[in-house]
Amino acid sequence: MQKEEIALVRGDGAAPEAMEVACMIAVEAAKKDDVDLSFPETPMGWKAYGDFGDTFPKESFKTATQIGTLFFGGVGDPEIDKTIGTQYPKMRPEARCLLGIRENWGLLLNFRPMLFNKAFNHLSPLKAEYLPEDGCQQHYIRYLLEDSYFGTSNVMKMILQRSKAFYHLLKNIGVCTIDEVNGQERQIIEFAYYTRKNIEKYLRYAFQYAKDRNLPLISVDKANVMARYKFWRLLCDDIHDSEFPDVELRHQLVDSANALLPHPSKLHGVIACGNEHGDILSDGAAEIFGGMGLMCSSAINPDNGVAMFESGAGTAVDIAGKDLINPLGRIWTAGMMLEHKQMPNGATAITNAVTKTLQQGYATKDFATSGSKIVGTKEMGEMICKNL
Ligand code: IPM
Ligand code: MN
Repeated sequence: MQKEEIALVRGDGAAPEAMEVACMIAVEAAKKDDVDLSFPETPMGWKAYGDFGDTFPKESFKTATQIGTLFFGGVGDPEIDKTIGTQYPKMRPEARCLLGIRENWGLLLNFRPMLFNKAFNHLSPLKAEYLPEDGCQQHYIRYLLEDSYFGTSNVMKMILQRSKAFYHLLKNIGVCTIDEVNGQERQIIEFAYYTRKNIEKYLRYAFQYAKDRNLPLISVDKANVMARYKFWRLLCDDIHDSEFPDVELRHQLVDSANALLPHPSKLHGVIACGNEHGDILSDGAAEIFGGMGLMCSSAINPDNGVAMFESGAGTAVDIAGKDLINPLGRIWTAGMMLEHKQMPNGATAITNAVTKTLQQGYATKDFATSGSKIVGTKEMGEMICKNL
């Protein structure tokens, strides 16, 4: 058997309980591709702060970088944010770890597929008549760099290299990063930016992904108000016309895309969206799909394949240690991870096993209905493992 390693962040709150079963399932599924999979731990988050004095320990990041693939359980705890997080705002782990990894690894593409299926109707608050018989697919590909997320820090770095005086002038009129805000300011100014190089690279992947699946590309923007989205739309039209004229392209303003979420078939396709828009839309879509606990997500550097797999689900601190957290999003994410690591049999086995387990009526409490067989996190994992 070939040996493969994936770095593991178990995470905070209830995340480690879901990660435990997701890893167990991944190890079993990998055997179907003759791979002996193991998960060296690279702790991050508030738990890591307790153990190592840093929410993003250098050693963890170094090991994860050497391995090049990371399975990330999710970090953060609103209560600790109020104590240690107020004393040391830089240590707040969501932005510190996630943005640190995304930027350092160049994770441009964030895949968040929502495959709506009648069989999962009971998971969803959706009106049954709004979902076509054969379901529909929303493949969110969120642009995971630049934009407002990295705007101020990166633009200010560029300005500092060119002119110290201008940098200080901007600081004086209120340009600052989140860690510097103290509530006493007269005004705050933030930047958002996109580079041609990354937009073009990103859109080529999105178009190709749509073409491979014979789906339309729905490009989300706010080109009626903001310069960076007018830029985005112009580049999108150019790439479409010159390289992908055979892919159906639709432009959708973000506010109207948001209004379409309760009608998932109206957003059937590959959805290209900026960093901030993708953050918001994908949560909304996940809720319609069946809840945040079901979201699966991967973030990939398209140039070298370095990747982080992090279900969009949160840390659910209130139910930590109770065997209640829904592990499905993390398990689906483990399937995406195996696919990415060239283990197609394992990936398919995971998807099929989850579907079968749901069809057998098993559910964690958060999405159970009157007919469900309610099980805890662990038993849910064991049932899926059995069905592999
Ligand atoms: C996500 C999360 C992150 C984001 C936060 C935790 C930094 O909400 O992955 O969607 O805003 O990107
Ligand atoms: Mn989010």
